[in-house]
Amino acid sequence: MDFASYIRDIEDFPKPGVNFKDITPLLNNPEALNKACDVLCGFASHMHVDKVVGVDSRGFIFAPLIASRIGAGFVPVRKSGKLPYTTISESYELEYGSETLEIHTDAIRKGEKVLVHDDVLATGGTASAVCKLVEKLGGEVVQCNFLIELTFLNGAKKLNGYQIEALLQY
Ligand code: PRP
Ligand code: MG
Repeated sequence: MDFASYIRDIEDFPKPGVNFKDITPLLNNPEALNKACDVLCGFASHMHVDKVVGVDSRGFIFAPLIASRIGAGFVPVRKSGKLPYTTISESYELEYGSETLEIHTDAIRKGEKVLVHDDVLATGGTASAVCKLVEKLGGEVVQCNFLIELTFLNGAKKLNGYQIEALLQY
């Protein structure tokens, strides 16, 4: 399937100079949605996964679908102040300012195999903070799994040592 034909470019969103990859046409099409999920799950078909971690907010679209299909639990990593139970946090730098992500302390047990999913790998700051959270809890990141990798932003460099899979690369 030509997944790229379901991704819409939005120029100058959310700010001037940024070409935003809008995945909503893909989500809107039943066949594309299902087949995209097939491919994302296929990336992990050869490995055991206990938990799929999805990243607030756009990682929440596919991560629970993947988890349900491959027989794993779903874990939300959220922006600060959103999770109700005890959390640990990890901060990372953005172009302007910083962002903090949190995870529940009981979400992952020591030794569990974890697949990290997000919609987009850009600079890698988000995903590498998520990997640190998983590892602080004693989990093992077995794959970083994305719908889209923006290769020109070199996020893979920041995720050096981790297995990276993406449905589409630009
Ligand atoms: C976007 C995207 C990824 C992240 C990738 O999320 O959904 O999570 O940026 O960028 P990076 O690789 O440079 O860290 P954003 O923080 O814009 O928030 P959202 O998912 O809530 O829209
Ligand atoms: Mg995001």
